[in-house]
Order: sequence, then structure tokens, then C-alpha cells
Amino acid sequence: MTRLVFLTTLVVAAFAAVATARPAPSTHTVHEKRSAVHSRWSNPLRIKSDFFIPVKIGLKQSNLHRGHDLLMDVSHPDSENYGKFWSEEEVTQMFAPSDESVTAVKHWLTTSGIHDIRITHSENKGWLAFVASGDELENLLHADFYEYEDSHTGDKAISSERYHVPKHLKEHIDYITPGIRFPFLKKRSPDGAFKVPLRSPAPADLTKSLAFNTTSCDEAITPGCIAAMYQIPQTSGTPSPNNSLGIYETADVYSQSDLNNFFATYPSYGIPNGTAPILDAIDGASITSGIVAGESNLDFSLAYPIVYPQNITLYQVDDTYYAEVGSGGGRFNTFLDALDGSYCTSCYAGECGDASIDPVYPDPIGYQGQLMCGIYTPTNVISLSYGAAEDTVPRSYYERQCNEFMKLGLRGVSVIFASGDSGVGASQGCLGNSSTIFNPGWPASCPYVTSVGATKIPAGGSIKTEVVANNPAGDPYTMAWASGGGFSNVFGIPDYQAEAIENYFANYNPSYPYYNGTVLGENGGLYNRSGRGYPDVSAIGDNIPIYVDGSLTISGGTSAAAPVFASIINRIIEERIAAGKPGPVGFLNPILYKNPVAFNDITNGTNSGCGTSGFSAVPGWDPASGLGTPSYPELRDVLMAV
Ligand SMILES: *[C@@H]1O[C@H](CO)[C@@H](O)[C@H](O)[C@H]1NC(C)=O
Ligand SMILES: *[C@@H]1O[C@H](CO)[C@@H](O)[C@H](O)[C@H]1NC(C)=O
Ligand SMILES: *[C@@H]1O[C@H](CO)[C@@H](O)[C@H](O)[C@H]1NC(C)=O
Ligand SMILES: *[C@@H]1O[C@H](CO)[C@@H](O)[C@H](O)[C@H]1NC(C)=O
Ligand SMILES: *[C@@H]1O[C@H](CO)[C@@H](O)[C@H](O)[C@H]1NC(C)=O
Ligand SMILES: *[C@@H]1O[C@H](CO)[C@@H](O)[C@H](O)[C@H]1NC(C)=O
Ligand SMILES: *[C@@H]1O[C@H](CO)[C@@H](O)[C@H](O)[C@H]1NC(C)=O
Ligand SMILES: *[C@@H]1O[C@H](CO)[C@@H](O)[C@H](O)[C@H]1NC(C)=O
Repeated sequence: MTRLVFLTTLVVAAFAAVATARPAPSTHTVHEKRSAVHSRWSNPLRIKSDFFIPVKIGLKQSNLHRGHDLLMDVSHPDSENYGKFWSEEEVTQMFAPSDESVTAVKHWLTTSGIHDIRITHSENKGWLAFVASGDELENLLHADFYEYEDSHTGDKAISSERYHVPKHLKEHIDYITPGIRFPFLKKRSPDGAFKVPLRSPAPADLTKSLAFNTTSCDEAITPGCIAAMYQIPQTSGTPSPNNSLGIYETADVYSQSDLNNFFATYPSYGIPNGTAPILDAIDGASITSGIVAGESNLDFSLAYPIVYPQNITLYQVDDTYYAEVGSGGGRFNTFLDALDGSYCTSCYAGECGDASIDPVYPDPIGYQGQLMCGIYTPTNVISLSYGAAEDTVPRSYYERQCNEFMKLGLRGVSVIFASGDSGVGASQGCLGNSSTIFNPGWPASCPYVTSVGATKIPAGGSIKTEVVANNPAGDPYTMAWASGGGFSNVFGIPDYQAEAIENYFANYNPSYPYYNGTVLGENGGLYNRSGRGYPDVSAIGDNIPIYVDGSLTISGGTSAAAPVFASIINRIIEERIAAGKPGPVGFLNPILYKNPVAFNDITNGTNSGCGTSGFSAVPGWDPASGLGTPSYPELRDVLMAV
């Protein structure tokens, strides 16, 4: 793809104030219109005619409406195409803008005096790009463009209050830059990892717990407890070269010496001192400049004993500036960009990545390279222990992103997300005027990911008495937390889940009033009866001993549950490969919901939040524990049979 440099320093003042927007001919229509401009964008100066501005036209993806059926075609166990995953190129082709769009938009440009030879069609097919003079840009879009300055940083940005395109092209174009947008500016509240604060000090006898000692699993969940709970066999044979487990991290980094201490504490797994993940760093991310807050240590300490000697691939995301201010690492979009070059530019419902949410690279005070597009091959399974509430991102942004998880599923990737640590609420609070309406989790409620809730073993319990993780404040962590679950306000009930949800409402109807239309809280409702339910499954996520900054401590959260479940899927893929089968199992939910027998049904506990006790775990699927926790032998049989 041609790299275009944004020539802001050459854009010079002409007028001191923004005049009224110019009219457009009746053949044209407003394509995008800006509302308010943040007060930090100041000093608007009309762009000058005599120099050159890189322009990009984002073309609309085609066939997105077919994505669900296409994914089910390769993911549903009853489909004859089960497991026939697509190559990246096939996915790009299917959703690439149509030739018709490319031709129509090019025709507009060439007949407007922008000759073919000046136009670049990006390799990923998503954009047409060219360099225009100020006059050309303004005449093409019937818009007045101004250069603004960020009063805090001095950064420059070119933007227009509105711009126009020919009416017949509106359906082909998603957005044009420079258009109405401004780059990332605000600091925001952290999205955070779903890790609960550490409990210190750890019980004194913890270090003495042997790997396979399962008599004290109500005190601490050692690797041996997890193996016993889910009947995970020890690894054997030579690991496949094509089955590294993917783990996503941002802002937080792992500490090698903490991992070394952990490996030394559980010697029976034979994980050598110095064992480290393969780093796939994204957009200037570094494993030496982040903070060791425990999220990464937790994820690796859970995954290594299950998958070793298999490798782990670490997707460490975003330069320090964005990782810290965003704390959600660009809210997954820069990560997705790095795995799918076509996502870097593709748009949906007007969302083409969102500069007010996503990092913008090059970053003058951080990573100065270009945004990484399609540079890494995704691993077969990826575990992500980060997220926030659905309403922390615009709906169209979330839909676009969820479609991208759909595309990863088409490529055979199993995307595993933690369900959140605030029960039916969110760390951002609850919804409605009196903050009583349940607040579903993003991206856990995307119907194309497998969402994992957390369980715990209550004091005095055994490996057979898992309940929904739900701890009041002070017991034992300072902060209260409960495993996330509920019903989406953005996504409807997917077909693979319809029967499970129907059974749940028919047999264990929760007592709370609900709404089912587009009016939040209608009839006093607390949750959306027509939304996708989550979590899909659960795994242990409480009382996990790990090292942080040299001390053994106790951690937990759905952050822990996700890598446990992901590691189990990784191991089963390993067995498939060893048996000469194709490894990847892709999007798991259709097959999981067809096979509840592969789970230990969790029927005890609730996921409190929003001033209620939340939903209860009951027999079968429920919005507190999902289908339950995995039973390795049964799940292996199910996944070996397809
Ligand atoms: C298992 O743990 C219990 C409780 O910490 C301890 O009393 C027992 O000695 C341990 N068993 C072994 C074999 O180490
Ligand atoms: C794990 O990664 C290392 C370093 O990249 C490589 O040498 C080794 O072959 C990998 N092992 C497997 C099983 O893929
Ligand atoms: C690993 O994957 C590559 C590319 O997908 C493939 O060419 C190769 O045959 C695979 N190797 C094994 C041992 O499966
Ligand atoms: C791991 O190896 C390093 C370097 O050889 C050493 O300093 C450290 O003590 C070892 N850690 C453990 C837990 O054995
Ligand atoms: C919130 O309050 C406004 C104004 O009183 C009302 O119109 C709206 O219906 C309320 N929303 C909910 C969800 O209760
Ligand atoms: C409830 O869920 C449905 C199905 O996804 C959705 O169309 C509707 O907008 C949601 N209602 C609210 C208030 O968010
Ligand atoms: C939606 O809710 C109303 C009342 O709460 C109920 O009468 C109606 O049958 C529901 N519709 C669906 C599709 O669940
Ligand atoms: C549910 O778990 C609690 C501990 O959290 C326990 O006291 C209770 O007996 C369990 N109930 C059932 C029915 O197993």
C-alpha cells in the first residue's frame, strides 16, 4: 500500500474564522456532518489552494449481511462444510468492496479531474487514495476545509464541518479523510483488565502446595487443582509447530522473574526457568515499558501449566501512551488491524475505526511507525481478558468490531473473551436514570466470541462444588466482584443459542421485569429479553496463587477463567493435530451449545450487580454460568468427532 504523509506543516492560514458551509448542487448529498468540535481544537485556518493533501476514500464492505450464515456454515457441527475454514485472502475477497463500488467511485474522481494515474487502490481493496490540492479537495466534496490546532499539544488536523458526495455514490462510500473527524484526544476512564485486586499476603502454606495436591483447592487453585477439576491429562508427545496459544495484553506486562518463581513453585510441570511467550508486538508495544500489575502474570501462570511444552504467543498491543490512556489498547481495533489488513480500512455503518476512540499512528509522542495492518497470522485460539460495558463504545463501532470476530471465526480462530467482573452490572455502573438497569459487557456479548464466566470453590468445598464466583467486598479482596453475565442490548439472540435461552426462560424464569423492544427500561424492565445471552461457558477464576513483584499472592477474576478455557481448547486442538486431523476448531459456540454434556453444569450461585442478586445458576444454560465448566474428556470427544 502506498504510504502517504500528512503534510500538515505545509497547510497555511488563509482566513481566521470558519465561514458558513458552502452549498452543494442538487446532484450531491451531505455524506457526513460534524456536531460539536472539542474546545481543544482551536484556531481554525482555511486551507490554502496551492498545496497537497493526501485524501483517502473508504469504500463500503460487501456481503457483511451474509457473514453470520457463512460462519455457521463452517462452524455448525451439522453443516457438511464444518471445519472448512477460509484463508485470509478468501475472507478479504468476500467482504471487499464490490468492483461496482470501485468503478463508480473512480469514475467520479476521473471525471472530476483526478486522473487515473494519480489514484491508488490499496492492496486490501478498502480504499482509493490520491493527493489533492486544497482547491481540488474543496471542489470535489463541496466543502470548506480548515486546519485546527490542538491547544494542548500543537498537533494539527484538517477537518470540515460537512462534505458532500454524488447521491448515487453514497451507498458505495463509507467515509473520506480528511473529512469531519479529529484524531484521538481525550484521556478516558480505563476499560481495564478483568482482574480483581490482589489479596496479600498469601496463605503461608501456599508455596508448599504440591502440583497435584487437590485436597486444599478451596484455599488456593493450584495448576494441579485445575487439572483435577477438568480432568486435563498431562501433555505428551511432541508439540505441534502450528498451535501456539494466543494471549492478548495491553498496558500490563508480564514479569519474567515472577513467571520463573511460579514455574519453580510447581516443578512437576517441568517448565524451565526463562520460559517466555513469543512476542507479537503491535504498534510500538513493549514488554519492558508497561506496568506489572498482575494481569499478564495471571494469564501466563494459568496457561503455561496446561499447554506447556506448547508455545504461547503474546499479542502485546499499543505503545505506552495509548495503552495507558486507553487502557483497552485501542479497544481491540489496533489488534484486529494487525491480524487482518482489510480491517484497517474497512467500514461499517459509518464506523471506520473511530479516531476519537482508536489510537492514531504514527503517534508523535509514542510509536512513530505506521499503523500495523495484517502483519501477524492469528493463532488457532486467542484469549482476551479485557473489556468494558457495551455502552462505552458506539453501537456501530461495536457491530463493526463484532463482524471482525466473525471473520476471525471464518479463518478458523477461536476467540475467547472474559465475561467481566461486575456481575449483571459493569465497572462503569448500571444503566437508566436511577442506575438500576443491567449493563451488559463488551465484547463478551458479541455473538461471534466465546464468553467465559468465572467460578470458585467455596471455603470447605471440593473440586466438585464449583459455584458462580461472587465475592462481597472484603471477602477476601477489598473490592466486591461477581462473574459477568446477562443479555445484550446490541445483539439479538443467535440461532445457536435460541433453544438454550428458551429453556432457561421456560423453566427458570428470572423474577425481574424486562424490556424487549428498543426502549431501554420500558415497563420498568431491568434486562433485554431479546438480547444475546452470555457467558457461554465458565471456568475457575478465583483464589489463584501467582507471583507479582516477587511475592506470592492471590488473584482472580474472569481474567483467569478465559485463559483456562482457551488453554483447554488449545490442548484439544493439539490432540486433533496429533491424530492427523486439521487442528483449528474456529468459532466454538454452535458446537458447544449442541453438546452440553461436555460441561459440568454449574447450578449454584448468582452474579450480583445493579443492586440485585443478579441471575442464578440453574440446570442447563443460564446467564450466570453459561453451559458450565469444561470436562476435558467429553469436550475432547466432541471436538475430535468433527
Ligand atoms: C496437601 O495440602 C494439605 C493442605 O495444605 C496438606 O495438609 C497436605 O500435607 C498436602 N499433601 C501433600 C501430599 O503434600
Ligand atoms: C516455540 O517457539 C520457539 C521460539 O520461537 C521455537 O524455537 C520452537 O520451535 C517453538 N515450539 C513449538 C512447539 O512451536
Ligand atoms: C503449519 O502451517 C503452515 C501454514 O499454515 C503449513 O504450511 C504447514 O504444513 C503446517 N505444519 C504442520 C506440521 O502442520
Ligand atoms: C532463573 O534463572 C535466573 C538466571 O539464570 C536466575 O537468576 C534465577 O534465580 C532463576 N530463577 C529461579 C526461580 O530459579
Ligand atoms: C429517564 O428520564 C427521562 C426524563 O424524565 C425519561 O424520559 C426517560 O424515559 C427515563 N428513562 C428511563 C430508562 O427510565
Ligand atoms: C434489545 O435487544 C434487541 C435485540 O438485539 C435490540 O434490537 C434492542 O434495541 C435492544 N433494546 C435496547 C433498549 O437496547
Ligand atoms: C415483549 O414483552 C411484552 C411485555 O413485557 C410481552 O407481552 C411480549 O410478548 C414480549 N415479546 C417478546 C417477543 O418476547
Ligand atoms: C451453594 O454454595 C454454597 C456456598 O457458596 C453452599 O453453602 C450451599 O450449600 C450450596 N448449595 C447447594 C444446593 O449445593
